[in-house]
Amino acid sequence: MIHRNRTAAAALAVLALLAGGCTQATGGVRGAPGAAGLRDPYFPKLGNGGYDVGHYALSLAYDPRTGRLDGTAEITARATQDLSAFNLDLAGLTVSAATVDGVPAAHHRAGNELTLRPREEIPEGAEFRATVRYAGVPEPITDADGSEEGWMRTDGGAIAVGEPQGSMSWFPGNHHPSDKAAYDITLTVPAGLDAFSNGVRTEQRTGADGRVTSVWHTAEPMASYLATVAIGRYETSTATAPGPDADEDGGSGGAGSDAGAVPVLTAAERPVAKASAPLRGEIPTILGRQAERFGPYPFSSAGAIVMTDGTLDYALETQTRPVFPAASFDRATLVHELAHQWFGDSVTPAGWQDLWLNEGFATYAEWLYAEEYEDVPARTRFETAFAQDANWAFPPAAPPSAENLFDPPVYQRGAMVLHKLRETVGDRVFDEILRGWPAKYRHANATTDDFTAYAESVSRKDLDALWDVWLYGDGKPARP
Ligand code: ARG
Ligand code: ZN
Repeated sequence: MIHRNRTAAAALAVLALLAGGCTQATGGVRGAPGAAGLRDPYFPKLGNGGYDVGHYALSLAYDPRTGRLDGTAEITARATQDLSAFNLDLAGLTVSAATVDGVPAAHHRAGNELTLRPREEIPEGAEFRATVRYAGVPEPITDADGSEEGWMRTDGGAIAVGEPQGSMSWFPGNHHPSDKAAYDITLTVPAGLDAFSNGVRTEQRTGADGRVTSVWHTAEPMASYLATVAIGRYETSTATAPGPDADEDGGSGGAGSDAGAVPVLTAAERPVAKASAPLRGEIPTILGRQAERFGPYPFSSAGAIVMTDGTLDYALETQTRPVFPAASFDRATLVHELAHQWFGDSVTPAGWQDLWLNEGFATYAEWLYAEEYEDVPARTRFETAFAQDANWAFPPAAPPSAENLFDPPVYQRGAMVLHKLRETVGDRVFDEILRGWPAKYRHANATTDDFTAYAESVSRKDLDALWDVWLYGDGKPARP
């Protein structure tokens, strides 16, 4: 978020210098370069220090025949220190020009770090706008666990997903989950193709050359790993889901007449459009049911993108509009990715070590859904998970390395922690925690310690024994 404008901050900096009796003639600040990484335990170079992004305006033109992407990123940020230079994360592609507040800035590449050096230093607290023009054929990033992410070519189009670090393959930014921002993503594609992203489509126009441009607006803060783009031939469906003003007990239908209703837009690639339509149609019902358990849906739009198989290895909870390969577009996965809108997208982990706050909760959301609507008690799911050795390889809050981030303990043992919490504090208090947690950290970031402290304050219990064994303990306890 941005609080002060640059002029005011610059004036303050000059006053500070005068007050300090500084004789420097320029009146400039003496900034230092922002850090090249945020020292995330799993990805130390991911993200950058010295500034906080408030808004990304991305303008992307894509030609699926050549795979070439032409981009302009306009990044509005606030300096959190006096800045002589700052970094953005960007993998591949070629930067042709950069400006800061409209003035050409020196730019330099080293690995996945793009450094911009503005002509004038930026004082702490000042808002600034960095513009980067870039182009090239984006390459997917191979994740530590061997999966592919980032910008990926499809048959006649492209799909972009970014968990944990793929977004740097298609736009420069502060690619750590701790720096969330609003987005406007403008996509220009050849005639006959369509293009989708997060949020709502605010504009669509056809240019003189026949190319189609659409503008997608994400109002609520979004971590960059949740940004998505889908380009190709799609069929869409629209509906509405219960919004924040929906009746407490009325979440089970389309609720089309609700003043606060949330627009739902789904898009499925043509070959999988028909088969995926019935489940796409269940999104309003599922979101309504989840709102009853987790509190109001946290965003102003919703939906899903369903792809033909062959490009994506897994579904991802891209904000407002999760992405699915057709093979994993089933009800359990849909419930999982929609639950992430509360747990992961609205309440975002402060760092990748806190990922179980996403995956443990989304997995437990599947167990709760099965308990309530499919007659499978959560205790049964818990016992099944307890019996599987793969779930005990490491404690959910301490994955040994980046390649283990998405391993079974983060999901299944993460969900087991929540079930044990429920058994310890009782259903009524557990429900209060399930609704209160996403309310307290709505659109913000949270750590594992934030969660354990929150659960203890709501339950008024010291839960150390529970955390020691289930969240941090090595190996399997004697009894489930
Ligand atoms: N968050 C995704 C889910 O809903 C999985 C992402 C997996 N990413 C990876 N690089 N393996 O479970
Ligand atoms: Zn998940």
